[in-house]
Amino acid sequence: MKRIAYFVLMFSLLLSACATPTSVPPTAVPAPTVDAMIYKDPAQPVEARVDDLLARMTLDEKIGQMTQVEKGSIQPGDITKYYIGSILSGGGGSPAENTPAGWTAMVKGFQDEALATELGIPLIYGVDAVHGHGNLLNATIFPHNIGLGAANDPALVEKIGRATAEEMLATGIPWNFAPVVAVVQDVRWGRTYEGYSENTALVSSLGTAYINGLQTLPDGYQPAPGQTLFTLATPKHFVGDGATVWGSSKSGDYKIDQGDMQVDEATLRKLFLPPYKAAVDAGALSVMASFSSWNGVKMHAQKGLLTDVLKGEFGFSGFIVSDWQAIDQIDLDYYKAVVTSINAGVDMNMVPYDYIKFITTMKKAVSSGDIPQARVDDAVRRILRVKFALGLFDHPLPDSNYQQTVRSPEHLALAREAVSKSLVLLTNQNQALPLSKDTQTIFLSGSGADNIGMQTGGWTLQWQGVSGNSTAGTSVLAALQSAVGPGTKLVYDPAGVFKDQSAKAEIGIVVVGEQPYAEGVGDSADLLLNYKDVTKVSNMRDHAEKVVVIILSGRPVNLNGILPYTDAIIAAWWPGTEAAGITDVLFGDKPFTGKLPYTWPRAASQLPLNSNNADGKTGCDGPLFPFGYGLTTSDPSPKLPECNP
Ligand code: GLC
Repeated sequence: MKRIAYFVLMFSLLLSACATPTSVPPTAVPAPTVDAMIYKDPAQPVEARVDDLLARMTLDEKIGQMTQVEKGSIQPGDITKYYIGSILSGGGGSPAENTPAGWTAMVKGFQDEALATELGIPLIYGVDAVHGHGNLLNATIFPHNIGLGAANDPALVEKIGRATAEEMLATGIPWNFAPVVAVVQDVRWGRTYEGYSENTALVSSLGTAYINGLQTLPDGYQPAPGQTLFTLATPKHFVGDGATVWGSSKSGDYKIDQGDMQVDEATLRKLFLPPYKAAVDAGALSVMASFSSWNGVKMHAQKGLLTDVLKGEFGFSGFIVSDWQAIDQIDLDYYKAVVTSINAGVDMNMVPYDYIKFITTMKKAVSSGDIPQARVDDAVRRILRVKFALGLFDHPLPDSNYQQTVRSPEHLALAREAVSKSLVLLTNQNQALPLSKDTQTIFLSGSGADNIGMQTGGWTLQWQGVSGNSTAGTSVLAALQSAVGPGTKLVYDPAGVFKDQSAKAEIGIVVVGEQPYAEGVGDSADLLLNYKDVTKVSNMRDHAEKVVVIILSGRPVNLNGILPYTDAIIAAWWPGTEAAGITDVLFGDKPFTGKLPYTWPRAASQLPLNSNNADGKTGCDGPLFPFGYGLTTSDPSPKLPECNP
């Protein structure tokens, strides 16, 4: 209705301008033509464009902007019909043709539907490119954040953010649901690896570096008028997702993921809020709310934190997106859940399935006054502001120029460098490392020896990751084959028994670790290694002079079963596709520089154990290796006390 009134006014102005010029002075400026829409004028300031557009929108169009749907659930034509403002791919949400061209075609198809609406508001497509564009087949996959925390190199992390942005844009996607800026207090959490560290300052430093990498316009880049963002970062999950208490989760059989953070406000402000203040100060314009709770109240219902602290105290001018169907967890009564969360400050709902139910509920809540119109206008203003900041109004369609950046030599070299810097040398008895490239015989075994899926971990190809060699990359086996000298005999036995070998090898390498997982599926009560891997380590002791263990894991794991059989142990975390970064350090071409970003416990029974609560815990009561620990090959290996795990 509003828009009709607008056009009647414009038309009458037009008529008066065309009337016999008796009433209009000859120098009058012609009335604005109907299509002189400020929001469409790139020369106008962003806020003026937002104001103009908001004033033209109906309630339906506004609610559509607050609605995010997963790409498999949106029906053809419904983006136009319901003015949907955002589409996402969840973990594994790839198109049938999982190539940059296939992704670009999918994103363009959705965008064309959005542009077909009367106001032509472009949609924004989001994805979890948390360690590279993990959903994209044959993408460059970097170490997960735990490895970047061990590397502790902000400039490197910023470059990874930029490279990730380029491979996202190669698929037409400008929005990354990353970085996780959780300050993780209990490594039994299945999302430990998505966090950089247990240490607040380290998380703030690397989180803002990554945001800068994603968002800063590259030198020489030609932005659209008003465009300030290269791609959009989303620090998550606000707030305290990594501080929940074991056993407090009420989500299915999850134990700590989506659980309850039980701390006072002083601790919240000291440990868990600073990374968000840093992110906002670094220009973050989207934040994702957490599934978890604070002292029994769901974060998606915490107005005091979402609105008063994040938007008010921190001055956050972007929009808050919910997590996946997280609003539904607030109350069994969906109407109450929606009213509570939107009024608390959530601006966009990652529905992500039944969008018609959400839209209908919103209309009812606004019509009844339970959700004030002003709250809707504030949410939509924030969303539109970000879409203008991304330049989406002026170039809404994907730019195929970035397709050649996927697994480019530059990106692969960057990933390989990151792997090398992420490694932490835990023990090095008998000067086992570095290895000589002239080593006569090397035996290799372990579940991770030829398994790129165990290198990449969760959020890769599928939500839970995919074990095995399903995407392009270099396995540890392949890296060793390339690294050893011509005189070296490398024997790989997946079974780890080497029964055909008459003599011992000089060096035995066993690559152990965790099979991929994501979120609460990875919550672990014991952090134990697979017993088959433990057996292979003890077997290797009988077949090699020196035994080196490489751990591919999303977190510190229980080492008690392998310590007695090893000379050297390397924490490689989930390093991604470029294992040559491991052999670069194994053979001394690069030094070990990584330091533990998390306290390494002796056993899960000690947890939660971290640098925020380990004071005074020494000997067998203390950690196996403390936060910040890491050897170089010239350091003496510590004598570890005998403890009953
Ligand atoms: C998931 C995760 C969140 C992710 C979102 C979309 O449940 O909690 O980190 O961004 O859904 O995949």
